[in-house]
Amino acid sequence: MTRRRTDGAGTLGRRRISRRQFLKIGGAGLAGTALLGAAGCGGGGEGGGSGDLVFAMGADSTGTIQPLIDRFNEQADFRVNYREMPTDTGQFFDQLRTEFQAGGGEIDVIGGDVIWPAQFAANGWILDVSDRFPEEDRQAFLEAPVQSLIYEDAIYGVPWYTDAGMLYYRQDLLEESGISEPPTTWAELKEMAPQVAQENNMNNGFIFQGANYEGGTCNGLEYIWTHGGDVLDGDQIVIDSPESVAGLETERSMVADGVAPQAVATYKETETDPAFLGNRMVFARNWPYMYSLAGSDDYPDIKPDQIGVAALPTGEGGPTHSALGGWNLLINAQTQKADQAWEFVQWLSEPEQQKFRSLEGSLLPTLKSLYEDQEILDAVPVIRLGSEALQTSKPRPVSPYYSDMSLKLAEQFNNALKGDVSPQQAVKTLQEELTNIIEQGG
Ligand code: GLC
Repeated sequence: MTRRRTDGAGTLGRRRISRRQFLKIGGAGLAGTALLGAAGCGGGGEGGGSGDLVFAMGADSTGTIQPLIDRFNEQADFRVNYREMPTDTGQFFDQLRTEFQAGGGEIDVIGGDVIWPAQFAANGWILDVSDRFPEEDRQAFLEAPVQSLIYEDAIYGVPWYTDAGMLYYRQDLLEESGISEPPTTWAELKEMAPQVAQENNMNNGFIFQGANYEGGTCNGLEYIWTHGGDVLDGDQIVIDSPESVAGLETERSMVADGVAPQAVATYKETETDPAFLGNRMVFARNWPYMYSLAGSDDYPDIKPDQIGVAALPTGEGGPTHSALGGWNLLINAQTQKADQAWEFVQWLSEPEQQKFRSLEGSLLPTLKSLYEDQEILDAVPVIRLGSEALQTSKPRPVSPYYSDMSLKLAEQFNNALKGDVSPQQAVKTLQEELTNIIEQGG
């Protein structure tokens, strides 16, 4: 799944740092770096000596992780090996949980989803880094990602990059159809998408992640939130509301009214990229990373300047909200190499490394200062828009039982999307199931 651009320069605009340049900055000579980089790639998986650190993270579609690790290995007195985990965050989570339950496994550092820390911390699986990462150092980071790492007054990692659901659209096609602005409501999207699709001989106009998995939870929540509904109010489950029903009705109507293909009920991010960037869709809901793939070797058809990005639409009169996503750097509580692990975590979250991933992978940084970095803002428009989306993004429920809650949410959202249950029934079932989880857990 890992892909790299062969040009080493990416596609994000004139002023970006190419991967090659990046490797040169602050490191030893380029020749030496390149040699070591190649060695690093060859041994990219596991193996290596006992002093090596294992860094676990999902498959990296932006191709930005291994070059960073190569560069780190060039300057550190130990090696980091990248262990590629499943792209699907739920599968990644399951694999980690199995390893933790079996006594810790071999992983030292984890690139972990923002929804995990509460559960991992409650089980004692990840290291409390409160002493290493004091309050004053946290000020440099965005508030929401920091919050995702706090459990019972302690902090369990460092924010790496953040995420918000966004609406991608084909700016070129909209213009050709005489549409100057992207839709701001779901109703407008439902008018525009079939019109533009038809004028361009596309079967459907809009896709999102509707599969029965974590991304499906994010998408379903966005429909609920943008219609004024919610899951939790304090510690009460409040999902059984007319607003939530309206949200899931809108989601279902995308398929029922032919705006989105039926297959959207099986779509994850990995199906979204090729459909939108393969010139088969007018609109797509996805995270910022997809922007960096436009025009790459894998997706040469659509160039970044053909794409616009906007905030997610809302229900009639509903608030603007998108799911807050993102990934943190966590340390396995069982590691024998906590100091090295911390050194790597710190390095990876430094401005230079975060900037590289923003320019090359269009990922939203977690350091506040990078949102004022003109080079990033000019080269990667999705970051500017993403930072606006972050203002209104909402975290998924924070709970040590979140993974169980999300399995239920994803299942019911998917059932409702397929038309197997009514939106009313879905929220009624969820009201009971989620209440049970909270009561049994609490
Ligand atoms: C993105 C988000 C993550 C979310 C996942 C769902 O990776 O950053 O928080 O859980 O998508 O597929």
